[in-house]
Amino acid sequence: MPKQLQTETVSIALAERSYDILIGCGLLDSPSSISCGPASAEALIVTNTTVAPLYAERLQRVLAQHHARVRTIALPDGEIYKDWVTLNLIFDELLGEAFDRKTVLYALGGGVIGDMTGFAAACYMRGVSYVQVPTTLLAQVDSSVGGKTAINHPAGKNMIGAFYQPLRVIADLDTLDTLPDREISAGLAEVIKYGPIADDAFLSWIEQHIDALRARDKAALAHAVRRSCEIKAWVVGQDERESGLRAILNFGHTFGHAIEAGLGYGEWLHGEAVGCGMVMAADLSVRLGLIDAAYAKRLTALIERAGLPTRGPRLGAARYLELMRVDKKSEAGQIRFVLIDAPGRASLHRANDDVVAEAIEAHCE
Ligand code: NAD
Ligand code: GLY
Repeated sequence: MPKQLQTETVSIALAERSYDILIGCGLLDSPSSISCGPASAEALIVTNTTVAPLYAERLQRVLAQHHARVRTIALPDGEIYKDWVTLNLIFDELLGEAFDRKTVLYALGGGVIGDMTGFAAACYMRGVSYVQVPTTLLAQVDSSVGGKTAINHPAGKNMIGAFYQPLRVIADLDTLDTLPDREISAGLAEVIKYGPIADDAFLSWIEQHIDALRARDKAALAHAVRRSCEIKAWVVGQDERESGLRAILNFGHTFGHAIEAGLGYGEWLHGEAVGCGMVMAADLSVRLGLIDAAYAKRLTALIERAGLPTRGPRLGAARYLELMRVDKKSEAGQIRFVLIDAPGRASLHRANDDVVAEAIEAHCE
C-alpha cells in the first residue's frame, strides 16, 4: 500500500520565494525529489544524533549524485539544545570546512533541527539556501512549512529567529515508521489544530480517522499531511510575516509555550503542550461567549483520543500569566489569545486576567 501512494505536491505561493512541498513514500531515495540548487553547489546535511543513524547515510548517498561535496553534522538531540551554543556548531562546521555562499543546507529531522537549520541558513554569509526534510509528523504538518526559523532563549520560546523560506520541503512518510508513539501523538496536536481554526470538515475527518492515524496508516497520514500543508499554505500565502491572519496557526500555543517554558524545555513535548493549550484556549473561547461548551468538549475528547494530555501542570495561574506575557503576540504587555470564533474560524482576542486564570485552573492537574 505505502509504495502505491502517489507523491503529492502542495505549493506555497510567495512570489519569488514560492516553493513546493512534496508528500509521499520513498522520497529519501529519489534524487530528483531531494536534490536542490545548482550541481556545482556544496551541501551540508544538518541532523541530530538520533536521526543520523536512521537516515543520514541514505540522504548523503542520494545528494552525492547531485552536489559537488556533501558533509553531515549531527547535533545533540533535544529541545534544550535549540540554543546559541548548538547553533554555533553549524557555523563552526560551515566555516571550518570553507563552505561558500552557494552552499545548500538540508535540515534532516524534526522541528528543532528544521528551525535551527533554517535560522543558520538565514544568517550564514547573510543567507544561503536550505531544504527541509522533515522526519516527524509535527515537522511535516507544520514546522517545516512557512519559513519561521528560530532558537529558544531562557526567557521565551523561539524568541530569536528570522522568517526565511526553504527551497523545497520533502515529507517522506516512510520516515514516520521509526517515530516513537509519543511523537506521533505530539504531531497530531498540530494536525488537530487546523480543524477549529480553518476547516471544520477536516476536524470531522480527523475524528473518523484518529485511530488509523495513530496506527500510522499511510493513506490516512498522507491525507492529514496534505490537508494540513494546504491550510498552512493558504494562511502563509496571505500573511507570510504574521501581521494578522497567520497568528491563528498559534491556536493553543500561548498556553502551550507557558507550559514548555514553565516546566523547562523538553519536559513536555511541544505538541503535548499545544494539545493541552488548545483545551485551555477552547475553554477561554467558551467563557468569552464565542462558542458553546459542546464544541470545546468535542475538541477536548479528540485531543485525548490522540494520546495527548488535556490537563496542564499546576504552575499556578499567576505563573502561567507571567510566562504568557513573553509571547510574540503580546502588545505592550497585553496577552493576545487565538480563540475560536465559530467551528473552523479563529482570530486574536484580549481577555481579562481573571477569566484566563479560570480557564487555566479548570484544566490543571
Ligand atoms: P523534535 O525535532 O525534537 O523531534 C522529536 C524527536 O523525534 C527528537 O528526539 C528527534 O530526534 C526524533 N526524531 C525525529 N525524526 C525521527 C524519526 N523519523 N524516527 C525516530 N525519531 C525521530 O520535535 P518536533 O516535534 O519535530 O518539533 C518541535 C519543534 O518544532 C519545537 O522546537 C517547536 O518550537 C518547533 N515548531 C516550529 C514551527 C515553525 O513554524 N517553525 C511550528 C511548530 C513547531
Ligand atoms: N506554527 C506557527 C506558524 O508557522 O506560524
